[in-house]
Amino acid sequence: MRAAFGVACIAWAGIAWTGVAMADPAAEAGDPERGYRLSTPCASCHDGDGRTRYGLYPRIAGQHYAYLLSALREFRTKERHQAFAFQMWDPVRDLSDQDLRDLAAYYARLPW
Ligand code: HEC
Repeated sequence: MRAAFGVACIAWAGIAWTGVAMADPAAEAGDPERGYRLSTPCASCHDGDGRTRYGLYPRIAGQHYAYLLSALREFRTKERHQAFAFQMWDPVRDLSDQDLRDLAAYYARLPW
């Protein structure tokens, strides 16, 4: 009985999680054209095409959308704070959630 209850809980949690994850894909989408217009300040370190030539800065062109978005969010909250991360704090400080999605969508579409 207890085992059945446990299985039911896991199944329910799975369904609930899928529901949350798939609730509204459009809410998570970014607009790459708007991202391009927002990307001017980023070019000073990441180059205009995101394929950063200066080796201390990471290349961001062609990176996965989800990874770019989570990285940008972590810089904005300063969760990412190791060695060089502070250089990212100012560029994203005043950007909205939609701005971050648009920038992530823009860089994710560029060739690696
Ligand atoms: C002053 C230089 C500078 C500017 C301007 C800048 N960045 Fe960065 N960026 C860095 C550095 C340095 C890192 C690496 C930080 C670290 O080690 O965590 C980084 C990391 C990143 C990462 C994470 C890459 C990875 O592989 O984890 C993303 C995404 C990113 N920047 C996007 C942007 C965007 C978008 C902008 C414009 C809004 C921008 N950056 C502006 C210097 C800069």
